[in-house]
Amino acid sequence: MSHADTAVIIPAAGSGERLGVGIPKALVEISGQTLLERAVQNISAVAQLIVIAAPPGFEEEIKKIFTEPSVLVVAGGRVRSESVANALKVIPSKYQYVLVHDAARAFAPTELAERVLSELIQGQSAVIPALDVVDTIKVVDAEDFVVDTPNRSTLRAIQTPQGFTVDVLKQAHATGSDATDDAALVSQLGIPVKTIIGEPLARKITTLADLTWARELVGQS
Ligand code: C5P
Repeated sequence: MSHADTAVIIPAAGSGERLGVGIPKALVEISGQTLLERAVQNISAVAQLIVIAAPPGFEEEIKKIFTEPSVLVVAGGRVRSESVANALKVIPSKYQYVLVHDAARAFAPTELAERVLSELIQGQSAVIPALDVVDTIKVVDAEDFVVDTPNRSTLRAIQTPQGFTVDVLKQAHATGSDATDDAALVSQLGIPVKTIIGEPLARKITTLADLTWARELVGQS
């Protein structure tokens, strides 16, 4: 499924500090392909334009990887929201829908993006993939003492791609706030955010254990 008015933003400017491999995480290779290339490959079927927010100093290197005119590269920001805001600025006004997808969730299948987009086409303005949480989640204070145990049945682990109408995502980023995902900024505006069933393959590659999972997935241990 492809829709003529859909752009994708790939925030890829994270340092990958938690992975500890010394290069930006998006450029880590698995089976000869960077996480960024795999993320772009898996989502490109739904979009006519892809905007990558590149790690500082790596813009030119990334432009050399993606030479097709349908891929733009912008400078990433200091925080994730700033990277998304920088990318949003270069999306031409004809685009109606935008999916924001972490480079680190490189194995998210195309089908997940299709389901997110399908909800937008049916009239939702904000759609995010969610998985039930299996662990009990607790809120702790600055001294690591438990202050709350939210009811697990009301909790979800949220993934990307997250889908929005371009208008709604622009409103959300106009506030200049930062959050760990775009849906949080949209919720702050009081706009309903719909969850759909997520996908274990959309796991965020963050730690060495995630990298091992990814290498096993592609049969490279
Ligand atoms: O840091 P976190 O794991 O939440 O990053 C999620 C995604 O946001 C990653 O793909 C990362 O490259 C991206 N990011 C970014 N700009 C930043 C920080 C993170 O594009 N300043």
